[in-house]
Amino acid sequence: MTVSSRAQVRVTATVAFLLASASCVTRDVDPDRSEGEMPEDIHSFARPGDARVTHLSLDLVADFDARVLHGTATLDVWTANLVDEIVLDSNGLDVQRITTADGRPVEYDVCERDEVLGSPIVVHLSDGLDRFIVHYRTRPKANAVQWLRPEQTAGDRPFLFTQGQAILTRTWIPLQDTPSVRHTYDARITVPAGLVPVMSAERLTPDGEPAELGRAYRFRMPVAIPSYLIALAIGDLAIRELGPRCGVVAEPTVIDAAAHEFADTEKMIAAAERLYGPYRWGRYDILVLPASFPFGGMENPCLTFATPTIIAGDRSLVALVAHELAHSWSGNLVTNAVWADLWLNEGFTVYFENRIMEELYGEPYARMLRVLGWQDLHEDFDTLGLDGKDTRLNVDLAGRNPDDAFSNVPYEKGALFLRTIESIVGRERFDAFVSDYFDRFAFQPMTSARFLQHLRTRLFDGRPNEWEQLRAEEWVYEPGLPANAVMPTSDAFARVDTTRQAMLATGEIDESMAAAWSTHEWVHFLRGIPPELPTTTLIRLDETFHLSASRNSEIQFEWLRIAIRNRYEPAFPGLEEFLTRQGRRKFLKPLYSDLVKTEWGRTLARRIYDRARPLYHAVSSNTIDDVLAKAGA
Ligand code: BES
Ligand code: ZN
Repeated sequence: MTVSSRAQVRVTATVAFLLASASCVTRDVDPDRSEGEMPEDIHSFARPGDARVTHLSLDLVADFDARVLHGTATLDVWTANLVDEIVLDSNGLDVQRITTADGRPVEYDVCERDEVLGSPIVVHLSDGLDRFIVHYRTRPKANAVQWLRPEQTAGDRPFLFTQGQAILTRTWIPLQDTPSVRHTYDARITVPAGLVPVMSAERLTPDGEPAELGRAYRFRMPVAIPSYLIALAIGDLAIRELGPRCGVVAEPTVIDAAAHEFADTEKMIAAAERLYGPYRWGRYDILVLPASFPFGGMENPCLTFATPTIIAGDRSLVALVAHELAHSWSGNLVTNAVWADLWLNEGFTVYFENRIMEELYGEPYARMLRVLGWQDLHEDFDTLGLDGKDTRLNVDLAGRNPDDAFSNVPYEKGALFLRTIESIVGRERFDAFVSDYFDRFAFQPMTSARFLQHLRTRLFDGRPNEWEQLRAEEWVYEPGLPANAVMPTSDAFARVDTTRQAMLATGEIDESMAAAWSTHEWVHFLRGIPPELPTTTLIRLDETFHLSASRNSEIQFEWLRIAIRNRYEPAFPGLEEFLTRQGRRKFLKPLYSDLVKTEWGRTLARRIYDRARPLYHAVSSNTIDDVLAKAGA
């Protein structure tokens, strides 16, 4: 079955009533039935208008030897009148049986597997059944889950973490895996002695309790959240308080550095609250993961997941914390209803992140970050084409995995759109609008159409000229960048540009030229280096500034791109080390893509990847598989 034929397993309330059995048979969709104004989520088999999960209760054992999570998921469900089944998502789960709370068997069908979406599970709810228990096991290759051997961690114990967004939660929990459905959850997680589990939830038993197969820990998320925010990590974890409601969680060897790096977290929360209203999730902790974590960060509620590659020692990469924290409003309160509208999560969050950074570190600092974001966006415009369909904010994901459209567009074009609104209506009016938006639509799904409608009536009522000037529809539905986009500028970067030009003109390089540069000035400097540079200049740059030996991941990354373009071999041992030491897709994808452009690079990429692939999370290895396959490497 393909993604587009997903509707085949839809069974509407009316049809379900008319037909006795409702398994995996093809049905017509009732054209009159509407699910409010919410569009259908093409990436889930769930039919929330018919039946919805209202609470999930997990009881899982982590078996590190078998690389399997096994146990039960108890689901409380609501059904519409006359509906007697619920459709769940699953992908690669081994469902052993489904029972009622008192152990009687419940009938179900696991339907044919779709390559992208997995297998719908149709559970038959006879006699008004509103709670059932799925007994199941995950498989070692479950895409959400990465099982790490001790040598892949910062310590000497194994580790496990999950990554749910966008459609991976169904690979470790059977549920309605769509951001348009929210529910509460609780969990009991049993782990081997010496390991500690943490989740995107309140910790009820910080020290755990004895259990048959190790130690059990209980968690509770009392706020209804979408499935992609359910997350679990297990490892040798220590916890250090940073403030009254925030802390860091990390392996013991990393905890000091993490606590130092993220010391400003409470200030960020306070700034965010001043901007857009109360933080509604109780605690805000940051979990530092092993280096294979495929993202910079992930906004799991109560517990941001973060890559260790942002621990630079000088707190220069903490915009990522501001970003994940901002998601506590944009994304975790007001949530994109479908993945085609990811920009509603990410664009708002990049905008909000930058406002937090401006509050804490000042406007010139925030401007540097905005310019770097503009550059990221334009690099993607170069590869996607200014008229490329994935340069729309509202993307067309029909027949595709949402991950295939991932780019800077929802992030940076989304943020630029909001800055354009701000520039038209003024900051004061815009901030009042945003605060009200988070409050009014808290715990609700949002779509592009709903947002535009709300924006127009709430912020532009009686101001048709301003509305015209905004070109809102063009921003959301057309490719490329509308002409009213404002390019950010930075005086600090202008000075860097002058320095770079002088260096290129004279060939003179000395330490003093970059005396007080921050990470961002370095990144800007390196990005502006022309495609080809004489080897002598590369050597002098490297010798003067020790770039090949840099331990700042962002600087190292930019330098390695220059090294690949110029086949500067002294940097290649560092390149190999970088590609095997960490698995952040944002770094891996451009480096492998740069490599495969040449014959020698393809050979090198293949050799490194053969060694590195088993170290990466599936999110990254799936992307890099693609990069190499397309290049014939
Ligand atoms: N929620 C995203 C990560 C994500 C997006 C995972 C879409 C899967 C699908 C997270 O908040 C994020 O944006 N991370 C960025 C951080 C950066 C923009 C500061 C990352 O990982 O690079
Ligand atoms: Zn984000």
